[in-house]
Amino acid sequence: FPTEPSPAALLAWYDRHRRRLPWRAEGGARQEPYRVFLSEIMLQQTTVVTVAPYYAAFLARWPDVAALAAAPLEEVLSAWAGLGYYARARNLHACARAVVERHGGRFPETEEALLALPGIGPYTAAAIASIAFERRAAPVDGNWERVVARLFAVKAALPRARPALRALALTLLPPARFGDFAQAMMDLGATICTPRKPACALCPWTEACAARASGAPERYPVKAAK
Ligand code: ADE
Repeated sequence: FPTEPSPAALLAWYDRHRRRLPWRAEGGARQEPYRVFLSEIMLQQTTVVTVAPYYAAFLARWPDVAALAAAPLEEVLSAWAGLGYYARARNLHACARAVVERHGGRFPETEEALLALPGIGPYTAAAIASIAFERRAAPVDGNWERVVARLFAVKAALPRARPALRALALTLLPPARFGDFAQAMMDLGATICTPRKPACALCPWTEACAARASGAPERYPVKAAK
């Protein structure tokens, strides 16, 4: 590769260009785990723009995990109307109850303990561990996969390449700022390293990117023929 992709370069880019989103803390502060949890569940399969008003409405009505746990399920489901995939709302509620019943209303801090909660899968566990608790964890989503597939010009096709992409993603982690790094990968994928017409000229990793060097970054990630 022309150069190694440095985590520091991505974090410096994030400091300047990150999206100001309602569920993000500013000024280097950690975000409350309940807020990370609520936003990450909503952001699965739903866009940032659609989620924003629901996130604000839920927080106003149920400001902490104890309030959400105490709410009747029917009220949570009706507040969820319009976001789709109602299993997420049921899981959200079940998880809030489990956090109260098993952990006294405080989210556990490790990926492993988070994974043991109902409705929390590997992605959400890693998101909460990194963003709320600064644990070394990688919430690898489609954005991460695309960025990594391009940086290393991974020839193997999705979905089979998923474990390999995850392993490569872990090699990129910085020594600290795991929450910022996770969200920087999401932002890079959403705003620069987009599925079509990526803005390579604006990318902090352009010199390190094998797909860019190949002249056809859009060919990555390779998808299995249907
Ligand atoms: N998509 C999923 N989680 C996100 C986050 N924390 N910020 C922006 N987009 C996201």
